[in-house]
Amino acid sequence: MQRKDFIKSAGVAAASLAMFPTQSLSAFAADTKLKVAIIGVGLRGQNHLDLLLRRDDVELVSICDIDSRMLTSAKEIINKSGKKMPDIFTGDPYAWKKMLEKKGIEAIIIATPWEWHKEMVIGAIEAGIKYVGTEVMLGITLQDHWDVVKAAEKYNAHVMMLENVCYRRDIMAILNMVRQNVFGELIHLQGGYQHDLREVKFNDGTNAYGHGCEFGDKGFSEAHWRTNHSVYRDGDLYPTHGIGPIAHTTNINRGNRFVNLCSFSSKARGLHDHVVKSCGENHPSAKVKFKLGDVVTTNIKCANGETILLQHDTSLPRPYSLGFRVQGTEGLWMDVNQSIHIEGKSKPHQWDAQKEWLDKYDHPLWAKYSKDAEGAGHGGMDFFVVHSFIESAKRKTATQMDVYDAAAWSAITPLSEQSIELGNQTVEFPDFTGGQWMYRKPVFAFTDEY
Ligand SMILES: NC(=O)c1ccc[n+]([C@@H]2O[C@H](COP(=O)([O-])OP(=O)(O)OC[C@H]3O[C@@H](n4cnc5c(N)ncnc54)[C@H](O)[C@@H]3O)[C@@H](O)[C@H]2O)c1
Repeated sequence: MQRKDFIKSAGVAAASLAMFPTQSLSAFAADTKLKVAIIGVGLRGQNHLDLLLRRDDVELVSICDIDSRMLTSAKEIINKSGKKMPDIFTGDPYAWKKMLEKKGIEAIIIATPWEWHKEMVIGAIEAGIKYVGTEVMLGITLQDHWDVVKAAEKYNAHVMMLENVCYRRDIMAILNMVRQNVFGELIHLQGGYQHDLREVKFNDGTNAYGHGCEFGDKGFSEAHWRTNHSVYRDGDLYPTHGIGPIAHTTNINRGNRFVNLCSFSSKARGLHDHVVKSCGENHPSAKVKFKLGDVVTTNIKCANGETILLQHDTSLPRPYSLGFRVQGTEGLWMDVNQSIHIEGKSKPHQWDAQKEWLDKYDHPLWAKYSKDAEGAGHGGMDFFVVHSFIESAKRKTATQMDVYDAAAWSAITPLSEQSIELGNQTVEFPDFTGGQWMYRKPVFAFTDEY
């Protein structure tokens, strides 16, 4: 299939499904199970594992990991579910390639460290798997993102980044309000990743959160790999939780696109101070120089004139908040103060508590599936992202978040690094759709199906 045809069919197939949601359901017989594999059953992969095991329409056929402790926990979860133990691949960092040689895998979830995503996504595509769900960040460099886009186009594969925040209940209600024009024409949006990760980036090598100041070879889970990105890189290292929801409200890659960005990085103090306070100034981690600025801010300009402010703030004491703001000609929502103001509806210059608005505009997906989402990670939103991926694969249709979304959102990281490196210069965004953003239609969550 030619690149343009692939891009168009990806949009049109999902758009037509959105209009006639029940039509193609029968294509997947009730007794057929989708054969799914997972690479990476660490802490995030175990969440996905649990969600897959809860589904009757999925057969978990293989899992791969190189950490025996993570594999032991995964096996416990599988045994507890009463489902059949899948084939297990382990032993070396390329054991996943052996797993991909196995025939019959219809969909795969990748939940490994960021630096592995590009190679594993492309490996899965080249092995003939048509549905690849990868955890956040598609790759590291801008070239990585191009490589994945080209591979998906060449093999006509669907690559969905499993960006769960797009399914947060308040965010979906706000998307509903945007689509019903309650905020008027959108002007400015904000969001980000503002999460004190100091006890994630350092631990004692046994507990996942805190109890020590080790990282790298001596760290466990994300301290094993993620912290090194704070040593060697300076930029918005985790933009997708903030930009994903914003991209849906502004129709990025579907009538709109990111044009350019400019990033600023503050001085880096938080991680060093945390090590000194927790483990003393003689601890080896106290000698490490961290490159990542404590607060990185990025301004993005969109083709349709909106501005976006993204924040990355993971090294200082702070309560969790993604800091969303959706502002249009008629009013705005701010998640930090949980408030909405709509001109003519709210009292002049006063906030309404968001609850009544969010209840009124609750998204049909949440109205339908809130029971199924109960107990799923991150307040239930993890259920929806896996549900959407699996339902797309079952229907053999385009995923509602596709490779162009994954590439555009993830590209913010290398572009922000470049902007900072160049003394806060504005840098151009590549157009991964090759101009097709002008013709593609929005497809995300238009029904109560998935
Ligand atoms: N969307 C979310 O809310 C959310 C939350 C947490 C993590 N994540 C993302 O999930 C991904 C994984 O994070 P995590 O917290 O599970 O980290 P983790 O360190 O707990 O798990 C990663 C797993 O990958 C395995 N692995 C590493 N190299 C491998 C290889 N070559 N072959 C097979 N397995 C390999 C590790 O052994 C480990 O078990 C990251 O992209 C992270 O950003 C997303």
